[in-house]
Amino acid sequence: KDLQNSQVSQEFKDLTSSLPKNRGWVVPVVHQYQGFWHYDWQLQGVLSYQKHFQAQDTDILLVTTPKSGTTWLKAISFAITNRIQYHVASRDHPLIKNNPHVLVPFVEYVYADNPIPDFSAIPSPRLFATHVPYVSLPDSVHNSNCKLVYMCRNPKDLFVSLFHFANKLRPQHMGANSMEEVFELFCEGVSVYGPYWEHVLGFWNESLRRPKEVLFLKYEDMKAQPGIQVRKLAEFYGCPFTAEEEKEGIVESVLKLCSFESLSNLEVNKEGYLPTGQMNKAFFRKGEVGDWKNHLTAEMAERLDMITEHKFEGSGLKF
Ligand code: A3P
Repeated sequence: KDLQNSQVSQEFKDLTSSLPKNRGWVVPVVHQYQGFWHYDWQLQGVLSYQKHFQAQDTDILLVTTPKSGTTWLKAISFAITNRIQYHVASRDHPLIKNNPHVLVPFVEYVYADNPIPDFSAIPSPRLFATHVPYVSLPDSVHNSNCKLVYMCRNPKDLFVSLFHFANKLRPQHMGANSMEEVFELFCEGVSVYGPYWEHVLGFWNESLRRPKEVLFLKYEDMKAQPGIQVRKLAEFYGCPFTAEEEKEGIVESVLKLCSFESLSNLEVNKEGYLPTGQMNKAFFRKGEVGDWKNHLTAEMAERLDMITEHKFEGSGLKF
């Protein structure tokens, strides 16, 4: 996908010419819109999403900043909400043949490809995902009772994951980013859908204000206590597991189906591509907590910790 898309309307060119710009990690330029950084292709999608999307109270929107565990959250949420139709232990489960990003699309990317997509055939509850920060979500999302699940991840692992991912996405002729260079950008808030801290805080604050509609999760908690988090999700989606399902080991089946090991070893995720052109395998690297220790210097880690402490001060949010 041409993230810097040159086939854009004059209206879009006029808008971006008035926006702050900076160096992208994957393409040369990103623009800052409503306080957050976007590729041009993606920003066109965000604008159409804001203008045209009609949220329904029964919708479920999975929200993350990239590399927070979106693929995992999508798989788990799809498995839970579709379990009547698709038995989670079935060999024909859609997650066996499809990458989670195909089953639960990023809604702004759908709009980037088609400014007026038809969502009318999707049965309720409609399951969508987005990386769009709270402030930039469509009014219809702000004003509806649709459910938002936000998953965040500690900034050190997230940075390392994003560094590797961006280098996989960069056109070959541009060469790889050096870690030092993108580390500076990350600390300044210049990363895709960044600043990371403001993205997280937007949803954290909303989850405190509207706990019934906004569930805030951490990747690290999902790794440490997956059963608790999966049950929490099923309850939040209004479809808690029955005693009979529990007896049959549904939680374990969901976790097995959606585990890093299972998903990353499927043919579709080893060989397949998304409609947006990315290799499915780019979404599976290590899937561990604490890999930052293998990549960041002590100074880098300390700097990120200090920024995080400062930004999250008084919010009640900690890593
Ligand atoms: P690492 O690069 O640290 O391995 P996203 O899905 O938001 O793009 O995030 C990708 C990160 O989640 C990557 O982290 C990836 O390996 C990890 N991941 C992908 N699928 C996972 C799964 N089923 N369980 C745990 N982690 C997963």
